[in-house]
Amino acid sequence: MKAERPIIYLDHAATSWPKPPAVYEAVLHALQYDAANPGRGSHRMAVKASRVLFDCRKVLGKLLNVRNPVDIAFTGNTTMALNMAIQGFLETGDHVIATMTEHNSVWRPLEALKETLQLQVDYIPVDRQGQLDLQQVDKTFRSNTRLLICNHSSNLLGSILPAAELAEMAHRRGARILLDIAQSAGHIPVSLEEWKIDLAAFPGHKGLLGPQGTGGLYIAPDMELKPWIYGGTGSQSESSSQPAVRPDRYEPGTPNTPGIAGLVAGVRHVLEQSVTDIANQEQQLSHQMMEGLLSIPGVQVLGPELGRERTGIVSFIMEHQDPSQIAFRLDREFGIAVRAGMHCTPLAHQSAGTIGTGAVRASIGYGSTADQVQTLIEAVQWLSRQDN
Ligand code: ALA
Repeated sequence: MKAERPIIYLDHAATSWPKPPAVYEAVLHALQYDAANPGRGSHRMAVKASRVLFDCRKVLGKLLNVRNPVDIAFTGNTTMALNMAIQGFLETGDHVIATMTEHNSVWRPLEALKETLQLQVDYIPVDRQGQLDLQQVDKTFRSNTRLLICNHSSNLLGSILPAAELAEMAHRRGARILLDIAQSAGHIPVSLEEWKIDLAAFPGHKGLLGPQGTGGLYIAPDMELKPWIYGGTGSQSESSSQPAVRPDRYEPGTPNTPGIAGLVAGVRHVLEQSVTDIANQEQQLSHQMMEGLLSIPGVQVLGPELGRERTGIVSFIMEHQDPSQIAFRLDREFGIAVRAGMHCTPLAHQSAGTIGTGAVRASIGYGSTADQVQTLIEAVQWLSRQDN
């Protein structure tokens, strides 16, 4: 059998891979030894499973600066967490401000609620650097604005928005803030309670290095959401109402205990490495990638210009070449995994001027090296010299 070429994985913004070895071990261990249903029994194995969930909330709290672990509710992914926040908080006739970098997991629920709740929504443009004009945001608040939704870091542009300033603005205007930290958690420092964030949706499987099927929502202690799914919690079973107590209120159904066990190991890895060091390393690699790509005639990199703050996401387009074709050839001819297309964020593509074309996105994460980045640059150079 022909040996497969080793994969050069530069698609961490979609999901991180590989994971630290401790993550695989933790999932397997949980499946073998802690796999009872947490909160649904008092036998020892059920208690061990409950402990896994508690440990995860604790390490997440440490990383994201959340004092009370029960203010973190687990979900299957960021999309569910965003829906839980949006659908659980908004009411008929509310006005919402969001940005032109939001993912479809914000855009689509907001657009759907325009029909069912007569929601009014303003999407604030960002410039080519992916940055907002904060005065424009300030001017957009109305008397009925209840929520400002902000993508902390764009999954297309790699730009980072000033979360603490936006939270201060929302509160001054009598609104609350929902932060989408899908592309920042585990990649750059996030300090939810210091920044006074009200709601924050995160994935477990990207920068936090856990398995797919994990994620969650931080809900500030004074925030109350209508549950968006009702069901068994293992508590107050005699009552027809969803319990008020956290996290039960927001976590009906059997959780993904093995996945959450893996997430504990992933978050511990991030804490051990220090998220500041991770951010610096990823910024260095994205700088190297940008410098190399920008030296290739016909290549344009989206988002913050070279030298400005960005995450490890570097999206680019190449004159006369289809992004999907480039991604296909990078995979088949060089073994490099990147994502191409619209990246589930047509709003950010409108901002970047790539709505008609899409873009190729290379994204850095755990295990990415300078050699991998150099291989990508050389491969793009080679493709740019082809005239087909
Ligand atoms: N939202 C993920 C991405 O940007 C899946 O690729």
